[in-house]
Amino acid sequence: MKTLIANGTIVTAERTYRGDILVDGEKIADIADSFPGAVAGRVIDATGMLLMPGGIDVHTHLDMPFGGTTSSDNFETGTRAAAFGGTTTLVDFAIQPKGTKMRDALDTWWKKADGRATIDYGLHMIVTDLGEAGLEDMDSLVDEGVASFKLFMAYPGVLMVDDATIFKAMKRTAKNGALICMHAENGGVIDVIVQQALAEGKTAPIYHAMTRPTTAEAEAVHRAIALSEMAGTPVYIVHLSSEDALNQVREARDRGVPVFAETCPQYLLLSVEELARPNFEGAKYVFTPPLREKHNLPKLWEGLKHDHLQVVSTDHCPFCFADQKALGKDNFTKIPNGGPGVENRLQLIHHHGVNEGRIGLNRFVELVSTTPAKIFGLYPRKGAIAIGSDADIVVWDPNADHLISAQTHHMRVDYSMFEGFRVKGNARIVISRGETIVENGSFHGRAGRGAYLRRTARGGAWK
Ligand code: URP
Ligand code: ZN
Ligand code: ZN
Repeated sequence: MKTLIANGTIVTAERTYRGDILVDGEKIADIADSFPGAVAGRVIDATGMLLMPGGIDVHTHLDMPFGGTTSSDNFETGTRAAAFGGTTTLVDFAIQPKGTKMRDALDTWWKKADGRATIDYGLHMIVTDLGEAGLEDMDSLVDEGVASFKLFMAYPGVLMVDDATIFKAMKRTAKNGALICMHAENGGVIDVIVQQALAEGKTAPIYHAMTRPTTAEAEAVHRAIALSEMAGTPVYIVHLSSEDALNQVREARDRGVPVFAETCPQYLLLSVEELARPNFEGAKYVFTPPLREKHNLPKLWEGLKHDHLQVVSTDHCPFCFADQKALGKDNFTKIPNGGPGVENRLQLIHHHGVNEGRIGLNRFVELVSTTPAKIFGLYPRKGAIAIGSDADIVVWDPNADHLISAQTHHMRVDYSMFEGFRVKGNARIVISRGETIVENGSFHGRAGRGAYLRRTARGGAWK
């Protein structure tokens, strides 16, 4: 069945223009000034609407065991919430438990997603252990479409790997074309500061932030870039949170080093004061890296504007306040690290970025859809409004008034980090591979319709 999306304004990373989109099955079949109405069985009148490629969130943690519990959204609830906010593709993180094969972890994550995902998804692999066969394992994962690996320079004893492991993994990606995603914080130093704070009886949520200085992030970003230069391969810094860390990325990019970095709405819109909220409510904002002092926020927005930062993802890793964050009531190190956000990314970046004049509409699309698709091997199947691309289209109402609240959101978590934020602009219709899955606030998709995406190594597009 064909669908005509008529009378809308198409917005891509490159340009904004009046055009009608003809969808045939799962693909965009044609784009023109106008088509005769009879060309399609269904016509969507998009007068006053923007037509954008579906959002791509390349940093989520669904159904992930972490911090003594499991993130509260699974592949069904998390992908449904994503769809409500105009995101039609996720790239989630599978974890290799220490001492096991990455291939087994991939099977585990496929099982988690199978029968549940409502939108298309890819997987990164978190490498905790290279062991004997880890490097060959990486190659076979690339063959399965896992074109990126996350390494941790933080969380000693849990996820952290040493520089030698990082360097070996990077040298492997220099050959197999995959991308190393780096959680860049100096975990060893942070651990010393944390132990000192606990010994002084400092157990409240605010000490999560006080014990993770921006210098520990900047040092690790610097080291990650240096290791990637020595290995001769690009590196992608995840959830960059501070001006100090940004300066390292900018300096390297100015030298022509292929380093890419993402930030997240929480680092652009919230600051460290949130962790000092009374009644343990600061725990709602305990994630890593932590929220920073206010002066960092405009620097990150400028980084997005000037392409020192290339992607906005969410690091969606929800834990319920009542029974999960509470694990750390007497000790901030026991608070599960992570926060919810997969549903609100486009709303927040459109409102605070585009409406408030920090970035243009085309840059918005580039940051939330097109560049993530390019960097992570999905382009031009995803991230584009183009003939032959998947018909993942968001009919975006730039004037829709929306109040963000846990009362109305679709994420399976009992609070919102952005409670009470009022935004203008929201997804009215969300189309995934030609199927309308969200329309006027109702969900029409179904669990299991989302497909696993085999991603291409080297993405075809190191910018
Ligand atoms: O606190 C966070 N960010 N939790 C998720 C794991 C990670 O480091 O990305
Ligand atoms: Zn991380
Ligand atoms: Zn994360």
